[in-house]
Amino acid sequence: MGQPPDAARRRVAVLGSTGSIGRQALEVLAAHPDRFELVALAAGRNQALLEEQVAQLRPARSVLAGDEAAPLVEIAAADDVDLVIVATGGLVSLRAVLAALAAGKVVATANKETLVAGGHLVMPLARALADARRPVGVSSSAADALAWLRPIDSEHSAIWQCLVGEPARAVERLILTASGGPFRTASPAELAAVTVAQALRHPTWQMGAKITIDSATLANKGLEVIEAHWLYDVGYDAIEVVIHPQSVVHSAVRFVDGSLKAQLGTPDMRLPIQYALTYPERAPSPAAPADLLAARRLDFEAPDEARFPALRVAREAALAGPWATAALICADEVAVARFLAGSLTFDGIPRLLEAAVNRYARFDVSPPDVDQLGELDADVRATFATLPLGAVS
Ligand SMILES: NC(=O)c1ccc[n+]([C@@H]2O[C@H](COP(=O)([O-])OP(=O)(O)OC[C@H]3O[C@@H](n4cnc5c(N)ncnc54)[C@H](OP(=O)(O)O)[C@@H]3O)[C@@H](O)[C@H]2O)c1
Repeated sequence: MGQPPDAARRRVAVLGSTGSIGRQALEVLAAHPDRFELVALAAGRNQALLEEQVAQLRPARSVLAGDEAAPLVEIAAADDVDLVIVATGGLVSLRAVLAALAAGKVVATANKETLVAGGHLVMPLARALADARRPVGVSSSAADALAWLRPIDSEHSAIWQCLVGEPARAVERLILTASGGPFRTASPAELAAVTVAQALRHPTWQMGAKITIDSATLANKGLEVIEAHWLYDVGYDAIEVVIHPQSVVHSAVRFVDGSLKAQLGTPDMRLPIQYALTYPERAPSPAAPADLLAARRLDFEAPDEARFPALRVAREAALAGPWATAALICADEVAVARFLAGSLTFDGIPRLLEAAVNRYARFDVSPPDVDQLGELDADVRATFATLPLGAVS
């Protein structure tokens, strides 16, 4: 209900086509030429790969945007685009997402900043589209807005898949699973000595460097709690995190009758990318099928917020509101870049996040608009990019 009109063959733009999600999105699109036509590509700096993609896929338009947001807005709102895949990191695609939704396009997003920093701007547009297209007399479902703003993150895709067909009032609790990363059983002393190479070795997922480090600190799960709040309109006390080292159960929903629905699959991002593109249908996928006998056992444990304080800091930011969550995700980009460059220790990452949240949390003013988010991002970078580790406390 409240669905976008059916398009026989959707015309798709990919923002961030040269990255980890972008390249996998192109694979999914290429596997379904009957359903999708690629019309536009945008990348940041990787000119060689963008040129290769253009030569191979022949989109009508392509742009190497550097740090610029304007070319993405133009592509996302263009008349010949039905669906925009957002696969950039950072805040750079927020304006493009807002422009696409305002123009009535479907947005499929892997990007976290869109929701963690801009959920209060983005979700009203997606809900308005769903409300405007819902047939008279049909009541709303928990998944309506997701037909317009479609999550690609595997956890949010899993929750979405569990919610389809369920009324919002039936939902009691969302359960986000986390692999626990490579240091799930590490002691505080071991965590303090973690090297970049160790942190980049994720046990179950192959991903870009930023999100791999975020998985190791559990900051990623904290950001996902905030995303879940915005996507599903659920309070923070009803969003739980459970460590599940095998990454087979991608997330779950508990309903008011006490039953639990979960979505299971192999850890392969092409699955949630494809679901976001073909929804409400499913289609054959190149990913290996889920196999319970091969999985053999599925373990679950509570997260340890004392050893992984980034999760606690993210929850505190969530409760402090949109200025704090925006500061959190901007600071996380700085912290991870510093860790990768060797100017911050692994256990310094959550300390930097906490310092940023405390500094920028604002309760006395309305939530930040797009311009204010840009200014906040610049200020966080200027403040924390070079601060000596000892000053980050
Ligand atoms: N990787 C995963 O498995 C995964 C899973 C769930 C969620 N996510 C989320 O998805 C997003 C992308 O992650 P990723 O791992 O794919 O990142 P990534 O590999 O670092 O790719 C980022 C992409 O964004 C592009 N980009 C940067 N600035 C741009 C601009 N101004 N205009 C257009 N493109 C620009 C980059 O282009 P250049 O390379 O050309 O500079 C690259 O194509 C992140 O928010 C991440 O948290 C990722």
